[in-house]
Amino acid sequence: MSRRILVTAALPYANGPIHIGHLVEYIQTDIWVRFQKLRGHRCLYICADDTHGTAIMIRARQEGRSEEELIADMREQHVRDFAAFDIEFDNYGSTHCDENRELCEQIWKSVTDAGLVIEKPVEQLYDPEAETFLADRFVKGTCPVCKTPDQNGDHCEKCLSNYTPKELIDPKSRLSGATPILHEAPHRFIQLEQLHEFLDEWTQSGEHLQPEIANYLKGHFLGDELRDWDVTRPPAYFGFEIPDFPGNYWYVWFDAPIGYIGSTHQWCKEHGESLDVWWRSPDCEVHHFIGKDITYFHTLFWPGILKTAGLNLPEKVHIHGFLTVDGEKMSKSKGTFIQASTYADHLNPSYLRYFFASKLSSKVDDLDLNLDEFKAKVDSDLVGKVVNIASRCAKFVADQPLSNEYPDDGGLFQQAADAADRIAELYENCDYSAAIREIMLLADRANQYIEAKEPWTLRKDESRQDELRDVCTVGLNLFRQIVVYLGPVLPRLVNQTDELLSEPIRQWDDARSPLLGTTVNQFQHMLKRVDPQQVEKMIDDSKETLPGGEAPQPSTLNQYNDGPESLAAEPMSGEECTFDDFMKVDMRVARVVEANHVEGADKLLQLTLSLGGDETRNVFAGIKSVYDPEQLVGRLVICCANLAPRKMRFGLSEGMVLASGPGGKDIFLLNPDDGAKPGMRVH
Ligand code: MSP
Ligand code: ZN
Repeated sequence: MSRRILVTAALPYANGPIHIGHLVEYIQTDIWVRFQKLRGHRCLYICADDTHGTAIMIRARQEGRSEEELIADMREQHVRDFAAFDIEFDNYGSTHCDENRELCEQIWKSVTDAGLVIEKPVEQLYDPEAETFLADRFVKGTCPVCKTPDQNGDHCEKCLSNYTPKELIDPKSRLSGATPILHEAPHRFIQLEQLHEFLDEWTQSGEHLQPEIANYLKGHFLGDELRDWDVTRPPAYFGFEIPDFPGNYWYVWFDAPIGYIGSTHQWCKEHGESLDVWWRSPDCEVHHFIGKDITYFHTLFWPGILKTAGLNLPEKVHIHGFLTVDGEKMSKSKGTFIQASTYADHLNPSYLRYFFASKLSSKVDDLDLNLDEFKAKVDSDLVGKVVNIASRCAKFVADQPLSNEYPDDGGLFQQAADAADRIAELYENCDYSAAIREIMLLADRANQYIEAKEPWTLRKDESRQDELRDVCTVGLNLFRQIVVYLGPVLPRLVNQTDELLSEPIRQWDDARSPLLGTTVNQFQHMLKRVDPQQVEKMIDDSKETLPGGEAPQPSTLNQYNDGPESLAAEPMSGEECTFDDFMKVDMRVARVVEANHVEGADKLLQLTLSLGGDETRNVFAGIKSVYDPEQLVGRLVICCANLAPRKMRFGLSEGMVLASGPGGKDIFLLNPDDGAKPGMRVH
């Protein structure tokens, strides 16, 4: 019986490139869709870019272009990356499209009519310069717990405490550097609690979620009252404006999952089909594939919305774990934060599809890309076992037909044909690793057969050419069965096999009956071993030369226990400074001969620096929070003596005193070792 199946993978954010962590999901889903299509089911693979929210708005501003331009650009890159990995969507849309806006309006009306929406004031930090409310990650400041500077608005990377942006010490906007102010604005919320009973039932029925997920929801959310969900944002925001709440926008997580339907709608328009067939019909199964980090949205909020709007509920939400590389979180400094395009520059995408398949199960566990294992597995399974079957047989029957009757193979073909249902069930349940194990057993048996029959020996004996043809007919048919079963994982291998045997693989059942009499073409090389040098190059190309975003790992050389925080807080610019550039900066030892408070300035002190003799500089330095003027007079400092003079509100500043530290209470003036004299140059 043919099923109608609509499959989605999570919509990737339009503010960054696709990396190999993402690919776990899009490949996992692609395999499932290809499997369903091969089985003869009607199946659509729907995805889109997730384009709304503050992050996109900010990035567009920083790049000096419109959000529309930015997201169009990103979409193009994403589409290219997915295609490189043979990830084949039926429609790849964007949440920023008319179809999605209309659907948001309809669904919003349904939840409003159902009495789920309530308005409440929300206090949030607001950036008065950038004129926007600040999401937690756009606020930085000093951790209220451990006092580490430059921490995010809600979480400290150093001591791992969580807090609210309001508790942050000395908060600053990451956008403008301005001190944010608390502003109140009305928001609208969806009262999820009203759907509690339904969600209990739906999540715990045992049909729609993996058992560990159902338990997690029960333990973490469903035991208590469900919190109201804040689904609107005041300006400025990049999103859809809400018709009955002018000037406000739907929060990105409201319109993002609706994007699944919006993208389906686009497909329907192109193919003259009704959207209802896919989203309002008991005959259609909806399957979502997502990563564990977005469980809450897809298993509570989203079913609640769908239920309220009278749309199809997911038949199943398939949740996978996170990718680690060599046992650790992907890291920019180690070169393991590998972008899809960087991978594709160096290595064959089929390798990764196969490796992920061999690791994925129906569990939510994380999976590791160990690069040694990656090479070992691809080399031994794909090259050593699978392709080897074809390469050892095809050359002896090139440009000749296969036997017309299937020869006696001791039951091997039948055995493999009988595995079809078992392997299909494993794919269906997303137990790809178990499916791959079964398939590799078949490959082992095929190889044993060829080794026992030694076609290379038969070839030398004129009188045994029929026997040779029979052995190759068996070998190539066993190979073709394996390719059918690997088809969802390795579409390129399917194409190569189609060409080799002049008869395309069209369906799963092609594994049940042997090919006879068709002409075998010249064997073309199919897949080579993983080149370790390319793996290394890929890692090198992924290494972030500028230590941005992420702190380098502490090395064993650092016996003084100096942590990476300071460098991470103010990453190096990465811009090279030539020797000549450096020599242009004339730094001198100077003595503070006078130091005064500046009236009306809350951060500055006025310093008179002597470079010896009559040479002095008037300098305003932002060090008042740490140094008293009295303390400074007489001490030596380092100053930049040839800085172009700057007119300030309080007078002319003719140089700069060198100091280190992030600011606030952490400012450290540099001073030379004993013996240095004012006027000496610093090289
Ligand atoms: N935009 C949201 C999803 C909206 S769906 C209506 C989002 N985007 S994302 O780009 O951050 O992630 C897209 C998918 O990739 C998510 O399912 C996420 O779990 C998955 N992954 C992102 N990094 C991953 C790994 N390192 N490993 C495995 N999957 C990962 O979330
Ligand atoms: Zn802290």
